[in-house]
Amino acid sequence: MMDIAVIGLGFVGLTTALGLSEKGYRVHGYDADSLKMSSYRSGVVPFHEPGLKPALDRHINRGFILADRLEDAVRPAQVIFYCVGTPRGTDGSVDLTYILEATRQTLQAIDTTNFRVLTYKSTIPPGTVRDAIVPFIEELGFRAGRDVGVASNPEFLAEGRAWDDFINPDRIVIGTNDELSTRLLEQVYTRFDAPIHTVSPTTAEFIKYLSNTLLATLISFANEMAMLADQVGDIEIARAFKILHQDKRWSGAPAGMTGYVYPGCGFGGYCLPKDTEAMYMQGRTRGFDAQGLRHVLQVNERVKDFVVEKVAAETPASRTIGVLGLAFKPNSDDIRDTPTRAIIQRLLDRGYGNIIAYDPLANDVFDRTYHLPIAYAGSLREIAQAADVFVLLTAWDEFRRNRDLFAGKKVFDFRYCLS
Ligand SMILES: NC(=O)c1ccc[n+]([C@@H]2O[C@H](COP(=O)([O-])OP(=O)(O)OC[C@H]3O[C@@H](n4cnc5c(N)ncnc54)[C@H](O)[C@@H]3O)[C@@H](O)[C@H]2O)c1
Repeated sequence: MMDIAVIGLGFVGLTTALGLSEKGYRVHGYDADSLKMSSYRSGVVPFHEPGLKPALDRHINRGFILADRLEDAVRPAQVIFYCVGTPRGTDGSVDLTYILEATRQTLQAIDTTNFRVLTYKSTIPPGTVRDAIVPFIEELGFRAGRDVGVASNPEFLAEGRAWDDFINPDRIVIGTNDELSTRLLEQVYTRFDAPIHTVSPTTAEFIKYLSNTLLATLISFANEMAMLADQVGDIEIARAFKILHQDKRWSGAPAGMTGYVYPGCGFGGYCLPKDTEAMYMQGRTRGFDAQGLRHVLQVNERVKDFVVEKVAAETPASRTIGVLGLAFKPNSDDIRDTPTRAIIQRLLDRGYGNIIAYDPLANDVFDRTYHLPIAYAGSLREIAQAADVFVLLTAWDEFRRNRDLFAGKKVFDFRYCLS
C-alpha cells in the first residue's frame, strides 16, 4: 500500500489527508500547530466543514496517522503533499516562508535511498516551483527530478463543501517535469473519478490562479454593476441579476457558478483576495500591469465604502446597528479577510458606537481574531430585538427563513438575498 504524508492540516490539509484515507491510502499527517494536533487527537475538528468530523472518526489511527514530528510523517511516504499556508506578504505578493520551511524540514529528514515526490498543493504563484522551490531544493544538496520529485498539484475545493469537492473533483491537475513523479501522482489519483491533466509545474500553478481570479472578476463585475444601477435608480437589482442568470449560456452552469455573478458586499476568505493580489503582483514584478486585476481589487474596496455610505446616509450615529453575518460566506465560520471586518471598522470610524453583530457560527472566532469594540447577540431573535437598523452582510439561509423577525424595521440587504 502506498504511504502518503500531508504536511499542514488546516482546511485543505485535513480534507486532503482524510480524503486520501477514505480512498484507502495510509496517510501520515503533521501540523506544526500543537493545538490543532491535540484537537484532532481528541476527535475534534476546530473549524466548520461538513463531513470532516465523521471522516476523522472513521480514519484516525487507522488510515490516518497523526505523526509527532514532521520527519515521522515524511520518512515512510512516497508522496508528500504540502498544504501549509501561503499568506499575503507585505507588498501583496505571496509569503513562501511556510512552504520553504516545510521543504527544508523534509529534506533534513530524508535521504535519497527512496524516491519521494514533494507535491505542493498550497496555492503558489506561477513560476514558484521553477524559480523558488527547485533552486531551494538544489541549494540543500538534492537534485530535483532525480533525488526527489517536485510537483505542483493545486486544490480546487471550496470551503463549506470541501469534502465533496475533494472526493468527487471535476479535474486533477498534476504539474511535474519528471516521469517518476507523474507516475506516482497518477497512481494516487487513479482512485478518483476525474480527468487527470499532466502539465508543467508553472502551468499547474497558473490554472489555480486562472480559476480564482476569474471568480473574483465575476464578483467585482456584479458589484460594480450593482453600484452603477444604484446610481441610476429605479432598478430592481436582485431581480435583474436573477433574470440575467436565465440566459441559456449561464443556466445549467455547475453548482454555484451563477452565484459569483451576483452582487454583495465584496469577496473575502483565504483565497480570492490574496490570490488576486498575488497574481497582480506576479505581473507587476515582471513589468506587466494587469489593469483588469487591479480594477477587480479596487472595486472590492469600493463596494465596502458603498455599503458604509448607504448606511450612513440614512442612519443617525446614535442608532444601534445590527450586523447580520460575519463569516465571509454562509455555511462557513471562516472570517479570514471577510469584508464584514472592514465594513464594521469603517462604521466605527464614522462614529457608530453601538454595533451588535450576530453570525450563526462565527461570533466567537470573529471576536477572538479582530477584537472590535462591538457587542454580539447569541441568537437571531436577540439581535432582532436589540437593534434599530440592520445591515445584512452574509447570505445565511437563517436570515432569509426568519425575515419576519425584522418586519417593520429597516434592513440594508447588501447580499440581495431577502427579496
Ligand atoms: N481554504 C481554501 O478553501 C483553499 C482552497 C484551495 C487552496 N487553498 C490553499 O491551500 C493552502 C492552505 O490553506 P488552508 O486554508 O488549509 O490554510 P490553513 O491556515 O487552514 O492551514 C495551514 C496549516 O499549515 C500549518 N503549517 C504551517 N507551516 C507548517 C510546517 N512547517 N509544518 C507543518 N504544518 C505547518 C499551519 O499550522 C496550518 O494549520 C493555502 O495555500 C491556500 O491558499 C485553500
